[in-house]
Amino acid sequence: MSARLGGSQPGTNQLNIVVGITGGIAAYKAVGVIRALILAGHDVHVVATDAALRFVGKPTLEAISRNTVDTDLYEGVAQVRHVAIGQAADLIVIAPATANTIAKLAAGLADDLLGNTVLASKAPVVIAPAMHTEMWQNPATVANIMTLRSRGVTVVGPGVGQLTGTDSGPGRMVEPDEIVSAALAVRRPQDFEGRRIVVTAGGTREALDPVRYIGNRSSGKQGIAIALAAAARGADVTLVGANLEVAAPASVHVQHVVTTLELADAVDAASQNADIVIMAAAVADYRPESIAESKIKKETQGDRLSLELVKNPDILTGLARSRRPGQIIVGFAAETEPDDAALLELGRAKVQRKGSDYLLVNRVGWNEGFATDGNSVVMLDGRGDIVMEASGSKSAVADKLLDVLARA
Ligand code: PMT
Repeated sequence: MSARLGGSQPGTNQLNIVVGITGGIAAYKAVGVIRALILAGHDVHVVATDAALRFVGKPTLEAISRNTVDTDLYEGVAQVRHVAIGQAADLIVIAPATANTIAKLAAGLADDLLGNTVLASKAPVVIAPAMHTEMWQNPATVANIMTLRSRGVTVVGPGVGQLTGTDSGPGRMVEPDEIVSAALAVRRPQDFEGRRIVVTAGGTREALDPVRYIGNRSSGKQGIAIALAAAARGADVTLVGANLEVAAPASVHVQHVVTTLELADAVDAASQNADIVIMAAAVADYRPESIAESKIKKETQGDRLSLELVKNPDILTGLARSRRPGQIIVGFAAETEPDDAALLELGRAKVQRKGSDYLLVNRVGWNEGFATDGNSVVMLDGRGDIVMEASGSKSAVADKLLDVLARA
């Protein structure tokens, strides 16, 4: 076996993950799966079927996975590659998994490198089906999925939505972050089992008139990453999403809101039974005093337009004041301060003002924090002491935050 196929690194959390890609249009999204696994620090080996390479190019997969891509059963025969890849794997993720591949896996066929890899492996297998609704609901596919589940294969999705053509329905591959989260969950401790967690994500919008609003650039990625990670670790998660720019995961309860007042109501209701509330949403501090009934016209306003804004309730402060014994309240502090020491001081002042148990100080700017895939945070406890620092993907930040809460 070649050195590059060696299993997980002893003493690290790095896993040797095989990503199998099969021939469906969703193959382009596999690039996002690989990228997220790499960002989370894992070693990724792609095994693509010939059909997959009709949808996504080998150079792309090699550049993103940082490893050569295996496709051919008859390459590397001297290294017994058809079994070596599977034997060395800690985890196999097949995304997308077509109806054809699912049928072959259920039958235990090994007529290509991916089939051999799965058969030769003792690693957990996670598949993300992607196909048209009729194929997904066909009794053959239904039976094949039951067979795979009964053998311990984890099936993520499919989601419901727009398919390749004009039709929509069940069969769409779920988003890469959800696949990655579910895949890593099969090897994760279920340390939040039985705990109820509320996470807010996204940015609230305050209407000016029927067509305009005041808002912010939060995409919801950080909050969604926390919700996904918590669900993957066994928590019962409610995600309160404000104008999310990425798809909400299927593994959590989702409540969509638009304004700060709606967010406040949703969090108030959801937090009644929650053990932990995590406020990752970017919340508008002010809203227009009144909302115009019709579009504000420049013809009637002249050269200047003044807006009267009124203060929104501070949801985090309210949660901290009314929390039940044992309930943990976590906030984020989005700050543009460039100096590290001054940034920390802003965080310390904010955690004391808001009264939360923890606060993640998050430097933000034109190109950081908001809407990016990565993040960098310093987590303070209620006294202002640093309890965790994390940089990397938003999923990695989410897990480090949960590691602290698991010990709290
Ligand atoms: O969604 P992404 O694109 O992934 O970006 C993630 C993020 C940068 C938005 C996120 O990591 C983050 O920092 N969220 C907090 C943004 C924010 O509103 O920060 P703040 O410093 O203004 O507020 C401090 C805390 O009070 C936050 O937990 C906020 O949710 C809460 N708050 C703020 C105002 C208000 N009226 N009520 C509140 O509860």
